[in-house]
Amino acid sequence: MILFFSGTGNSEYAARRIGRIVGEEPVSLAKRLREADCSPLESETPWVVCAPIYAWQMPRVVRDHIASTELRGSRDVYFVLTCGGDTGNADKYARKLCRSKGMNFRGMARIVMPENYIAMFGAPDAEEARRIIEKAVPGIDETAALIKEGRDLPPVKKSPLAGFLSAVVNKGFYASAIKDDKFFATDACVSCGLCEEVCPLGNITLKDGRPVWGGNCTQCMSCICRCPKEAIEFGTKSAGKRRYICPDV
Ligand SMILES: Cc1cc2nc3c(=O)[nH]c(=O)nc-3n(C[C@H](O)[C@H](O)[C@H](O)COP(=O)(O)O)c2cc1C
Ligand code: SF4
Ligand code: SF4
Repeated sequence: MILFFSGTGNSEYAARRIGRIVGEEPVSLAKRLREADCSPLESETPWVVCAPIYAWQMPRVVRDHIASTELRGSRDVYFVLTCGGDTGNADKYARKLCRSKGMNFRGMARIVMPENYIAMFGAPDAEEARRIIEKAVPGIDETAALIKEGRDLPPVKKSPLAGFLSAVVNKGFYASAIKDDKFFATDACVSCGLCEEVCPLGNITLKDGRPVWGGNCTQCMSCICRCPKEAIEFGTKSAGKRRYICPDV
């Protein structure tokens, strides 16, 4: 079973592409996360977890959901993590997660996709995004072929800072930056409710026609990037920045 979590579509794109090759329909984790549904899942085929990288690890919401969910059937788990450039030591933590569940870590693929973190950095323009995705395709397809053949994924090359980034910086980053306190809607908001609908954690509710953020945010960038009026901002960081959604999902 292919499980995916995706804020702006990159990991969904990878999941769907892998799904077409291995012959499976990927399953979004969003509904389960919104409903805090940790009921058991069952799969005869290997588990494939597709997710973005947040601060050089898989998102904590994904890690915690997998940890709390009984995965029945296959004991093999593959990870396909999309990123803007670097996954750090994420495979170490994915392996640890498998060990804690008594499952077999079959490898992690690093798929470089367009950067989506507009609350901190900038997203590429449409042409550059297209170029990055085209470059990512062979890696996604090779990963899918290895999964289909039941082979391990090759180890990912790491920088000397990988351990530090995924451990120390990740911890500091979650403590200081993964918050929704700076989100607000401008007067451009037309009360369409899309932000409420697309939040994978159910963290947004409309009050008097305007979104209110509830304090349970993983900064996936879905609300800010999908608002049709670009009415959502994150403090002063996102002002004037291009919004990004994977063009192929
Ligand atoms: C909160 C946050 C943290 C991120 N941290 C990293 C990072 O540590 N390394 C990296 O290469 N990309 C990082 N990114 C970029 C995303 O991993 C990348 O754009 C990913 O493909 C987005 O996937 P999605 O469209 O499925 O949400 C971060 C993005 C966000 C929103
Ligand atoms: S998606 Fe944008 S326009 Fe629609 S309710 Fe949310 S902030 Fe307002
Ligand atoms: S509030 Fe916005 S950024 Fe936070 S989890 Fe929901 S959609 Fe993602």
